[in-house]
Amino acid sequence: MAEDLNIVTGNKAEQYQSLIPQIRGLVEGETDLVANLANVAAALKEQFRWLWVGFYVVKNNELVVGPFQGPVACTRIKKGKGVCGTSWAEARTIIVPDVEKFPGHIACSSLSRSEIVVPVIRNHEVVAVLDVDSEELNQFDIIDQRYLEEMVELIQF
Ligand code: SME
Repeated sequence: MAEDLNIVTGNKAEQYQSLIPQIRGLVEGETDLVANLANVAAALKEQFRWLWVGFYVVKNNELVVGPFQGPVACTRIKKGKGVCGTSWAEARTIIVPDVEKFPGHIACSSLSRSEIVVPVIRNHEVVAVLDVDSEELNQFDIIDQRYLEEMVELIQF
């Protein structure tokens, strides 16, 4: 796998369709979790230039920040708290068009305006969440949900 990511233009679905095989190439055959989470976060940040892209990993019944790209973030989040903790508790993707309208939203960066959180589920348990924040309102929709859910399936936990 070449280390340079092929960055494409085009609509959002086209960008994901280019990125997913490249991410598969990056994580395939690599079993180190930190290495894989780091490369997925970096690839998403490079393609989409979102404010914050990263993972929170479930450790001792808390979410602990893992590899990410973007401004420094809250280290730990409890189950049911914020968007990440809610996605974990409910084991489902949550799209937040306007973070100010999500009760209990945890503002790690005051620049964040919209957010999507995708749970990583293995053996019926949430083991981590992928969190993406944007400086724009209404940045995420069903297309992001579909492709980000597909993407987290590629990572070996
Ligand atoms: N906004 C998240 C917290 C994590 S940061 O955005 C990186 C939440 O409400 O869970």
